[in-house]
Amino acid sequence: MSSSLSRLSPLLLTLALAACDDAPRFTQAEPGEALSGGQATVQRDDRKAFSLPSANLSAERRLDFAVGNSFFRSPWVIAPSTTTARDGLGPLFNTTACQNCHVRDGRGHPPEPGDSNAVGMLVRLSIPDQPYLAKEIERLGVVPEPTYGTQLQDMAIPGVAPEGKVRVNYTTQTVTFKDGHPVELRRPTLQITQLGYGPMHPDTRFSARVAPPMIGLGLLEAIAEADILANEDPDDRNHDGIRGRANRVWDDAQGKTVIGRFGWKAGQPNVNQQNVHAFNGDMGLTSRLQPKDDCTPAQVDCLAAPNGDGEGDEKEVSDNILRLVTFYTRNLGVPARRDVAAPQVLAGKNLFFQAGCQACHIPQFTTAANTAEAELANQVIRPYSDLLLHDMGPGLADERTEFAANGQDWRTPPLWGIGLTETVSGHTQYLHDGRARNLLEAVLWHGGEAQSARDHVLTFNAEQRAALLAFLNSL
Ligand code: HEC
Ligand code: HEC
Repeated sequence: MSSSLSRLSPLLLTLALAACDDAPRFTQAEPGEALSGGQATVQRDDRKAFSLPSANLSAERRLDFAVGNSFFRSPWVIAPSTTTARDGLGPLFNTTACQNCHVRDGRGHPPEPGDSNAVGMLVRLSIPDQPYLAKEIERLGVVPEPTYGTQLQDMAIPGVAPEGKVRVNYTTQTVTFKDGHPVELRRPTLQITQLGYGPMHPDTRFSARVAPPMIGLGLLEAIAEADILANEDPDDRNHDGIRGRANRVWDDAQGKTVIGRFGWKAGQPNVNQQNVHAFNGDMGLTSRLQPKDDCTPAQVDCLAAPNGDGEGDEKEVSDNILRLVTFYTRNLGVPARRDVAAPQVLAGKNLFFQAGCQACHIPQFTTAANTAEAELANQVIRPYSDLLLHDMGPGLADERTEFAANGQDWRTPPLWGIGLTETVSGHTQYLHDGRARNLLEAVLWHGGEAQSARDHVLTFNAEQRAALLAFLNSL
């Protein structure tokens, strides 16, 4: 509790301490509360709400954003091709464009049961850590599945076999609120079919992940490392049951271990490297930082396939294209909140604090003074995340470690913009694998360090449930 209180403004701190229990009571909106992304916040709440540039970008910078957007949206093609700026797709890949998964810069979802077309979700692979591979683990965070690597690619260029297809099936279980209200949860099981290269290692770990929304990523990158680490509490010294810790991951460019921020387990240190790995793993495109195609030694056709054009030591994705895509992915503005002062939303916000959600979904940060892009500096932002890993219990576990994240750890996802999911992405499927069919299901899956927050929610009556959801939907 103490760490999250210290994030509140002095006025709110007074309010908080004056309340009789230790959760603050909000009776009105905080100054600037609607501006989730500070001055970069965009004023839009329709299906394009996640696709606009940071509001404080100059006209000239908007041009770079637009060019970056075109490389994010346009399909890449198989080499050799006359489209030399965008060739080199594959040999193995998941889809041809970033935007096919991050549709309208929003959230992907798992395939419907029985469907094996999994665009919008991908499956990461690995086998348990082997001590003799310590050097590899330091850099990759995992031990790749020996034949298939670290990610299942369900598409391939002609002459190369795709790795396999993914289906998701569900079993259901029911959770009941204290007032008797039942909620059915669905638990996914993955089925990998049509394996292109023979059986997988018997101890293979699978982690299904949907594409997260793309908003505000540059602002999250601009939070000072010290401000993230200040919320770490691995030994639970304040006895609140919450033990956040940052992931520690390999930085390809710096050649050393740094804190992780991006991806569902915070396995990537910065937006640029996340993009480099997306080009390579999701689309089979090489770049200076990932100069080799994602083929394992067992995949000989993959290794022998022609490469796309690159100049000098530049690869299929040139330094300039990467720079523009990274500029774009840093500057997708966060939409303004709606209804911040509505009584039901404020009631829901109070319940959010009473349940202890803000211990991980930390409301507010101020970005650093020195940041990659000037527009992202010194912004008061409201991401509702600590960017730390938390043990979320066996219910959500994928049993796949990734750097310092263990099989039950997940990074607190930012909640900003979550209320616009249906408008932008046309669905309301949440959590890392999209198993939750609405926000309430997402909350009821919380376990581990979040067990007590979830149990608190189970005491809510219909009016309180509606208020909590009104608050989440206003984000
Ligand atoms: C096959 C679907 C797919 C494609 C194609 C794809 N992504 Fe992603 N993207 C994902 C998934 C899934 C994650 C989460 C990864 C994880 O947790 O390991 C992700 C995460 C990200 C993130 C981090 C977001 C966050 O909140 O942490 C960025 C940035 C990103 N992708 C950029 C890109 C770019 C740029 C491209 C194109 C080069 C791309 N993605 C292509 C599925 C995709
Ligand atoms: C111990 C830290 C912690 C606490 C406390 C916590 N959460 Fe979470 N929350 C997480 C993590 C980690 C995830 C991602 C889990 C996953 O995807 O498997 C998450 C996911 C979510 C999601 C889905 C986000 C998305 O992008 O799919 C919502 C909504 C949410 N939390 C709301 C709440 C609410 C409401 C509370 C309080 C009742 C709460 N959380 C308490 C850590 C926490």
